Amino acid sequence: MTTTINVALLGSKFMGRAHSNAWLNVGKFFPVEPLPVMHTVAGRSASDLQEFADRWGWQQTSTDWQSVVQSADVGLVDVATPNGVHAEQAIAALEAGKHVACEKPLAGRLTDAQAMTDAAEGASGSTFVWFNYRRVPAVALAQRLVASGALGRIYHVRAAYLQSWGGPDTPLLWRFQGDVAGSGAHGDLNAHIIDTVRFITGEEIVTVEGAIEHTFIEERDLLAGAAGGEIGGAGAATAGAKGRSTVDDAVLFLARMSGGALASFEASRLATGYHNGNRFEIHGERGALRFDFERMNELHFYNLDNDSAVQGWTTIDVTRAGSGHPYVEAWWPDSHGLGYEHTFVNQASDILTVLGGGQPVAALPDFADALKTQRVLHAAIASARNRAPVDVADV
Ligand SMILES: NC(=O)c1ccc[n+]([C@@H]2O[C@H](COP(=O)([O-])OP(=O)(O)OC[C@H]3O[C@@H](n4cnc5c(N)ncnc54)[C@H](O)[C@@H]3O)[C@@H](O)[C@H]2O)c1
Repeated sequence: MTTTINVALLGSKFMGRAHSNAWLNVGKFFPVEPLPVMHTVAGRSASDLQEFADRWGWQQTSTDWQSVVQSADVGLVDVATPNGVHAEQAIAALEAGKHVACEKPLAGRLTDAQAMTDAAEGASGSTFVWFNYRRVPAVALAQRLVASGALGRIYHVRAAYLQSWGGPDTPLLWRFQGDVAGSGAHGDLNAHIIDTVRFITGEEIVTVEGAIEHTFIEERDLLAGAAGGEIGGAGAATAGAKGRSTVDDAVLFLARMSGGALASFEASRLATGYHNGNRFEIHGERGALRFDFERMNELHFYNLDNDSAVQGWTTIDVTRAGSGHPYVEAWWPDSHGLGYEHTFVNQASDILTVLGGGQPVAALPDFADALKTQRVLHAAIASARNRAPVDVADV
């Protein structure tokens, strides 16, 4: 008989939708066990939640997340709330014996991320962090290529996450409130590319050599009603007054990796012309890789083992089921492209596979792993503020 696990989702907006879609569809595409049951969605507005539950198929709604994470019926708590709320919710769920899948960054502050990791260490439940870009087939293939030695020693890593939605017309969403978000583009976007680089190279970032953070837009329109607001979402009515943004709009930093590579990271919400330009380039002694999420089904590979007469960048269409490309067997025939939502379904599959005792397609970060990314975030800010290099081990 197929086993099941009851899932409780906390948060019902952007990530709430992405995760609901994942829990709804994972069992239809992947042979997962246990199968997820969409048990309860918790949030702050009862009427919004009912509409959300009806749309996505959640069995119950609640405006009291504390009682939800205590419920004996719930097996897995999925945290899709703002960064500053993660610690309280995840720790409560772990203390109640639940498995926890938490959105990234692990927390807004390093102290919260550390407390979450401490709670996870002694807990009976497993932890997972939704660094979903690991589960883009092209990114998972890049990791396999590097692990197989296709690039040899790595010399350079260049990672950038470039968005442009944070212009002066964007109101003071929670993402611009330091007490809720922790940081701006840094924790939102650099967190992803730090994780991706750590994942692909298998190396750690050991030193931040220098960093710059900047807030270009210091005041934004205050939102009417409760603080929050989905990016680009409807109903972002403003109150006619301004409030201070207390986060960065952009952070750039230079780093050294444990294998000796030199790396650069850049995150911006004001990179006009890019909407979700999540990119990396990796140069090694035997070859190079490059990727841009805006063309997420392609991985570019430069292979020095090729005859010099035909040497050049190869564009690999990473949707070839027969080629063993990660995750794509579960989806469509060759070149029937995948999208953003598939990365979350792929991750839901890996989470359930691990809970069922199996091996994920690509390594899944737990809280201890995501804490390493959080330390790098913290080191970069310390470096920017002190105008000095910072060893990640010292933060
Ligand atoms: N993996 C990714 O690609 C990705 C993309 C976007 C956001 N995120 C992360 O997901 C998390 C949520 O972001 P989002 O874009 O969905 O935000 P959002 O503003 O769209 O939704 C946040 C949800 O949390 C609820 N919420 C807010 N404060 C709460 C509180 N105190 N208690 C209970 N519920 C509360 C809101 O009602 C809303 O339902 C953040 O940590 C963010 O960094 C990850």
